[in-house]
Amino acid sequence: MARFTVETRSGARQEVTGRDGATLLKAIRKAGIEELAAQCGGGCACATCHVFVTLPEGVTAPPISPGESRMLATSQNRTLASRLACQLKLEPALDGMTVVIAPEEAGDF
Ligand code: FES
Repeated sequence: MARFTVETRSGARQEVTGRDGATLLKAIRKAGIEELAAQCGGGCACATCHVFVTLPEGVTAPPISPGESRMLATSQNRTLASRLACQLKLEPALDGMTVVIAPEEAGDF
């Protein structure tokens, strides 16, 4: 179980709790936050679930797969904190992280 804070594009913050092994996308949606378009349905093929993740001090992020890295490379907003919410699986070490929903890309709709 991981409890974390999600900041929406309007700056609103909401506490979210997700089960271990669930994707960050699923936990955010289950909490009623609908800003992530997730156009490919979680298939690592669109990058419309782009978020910025700040981890608790001393925590190392789960590795980014080559596919996730390729999709993030298509984003004009990519930073070192960028992840795809559909690819990041929750685990206890992520408890306390902050997740900021990335701005929409120019091509998003
Ligand atoms: S939902 Fe498409 S890449 Fe995450």
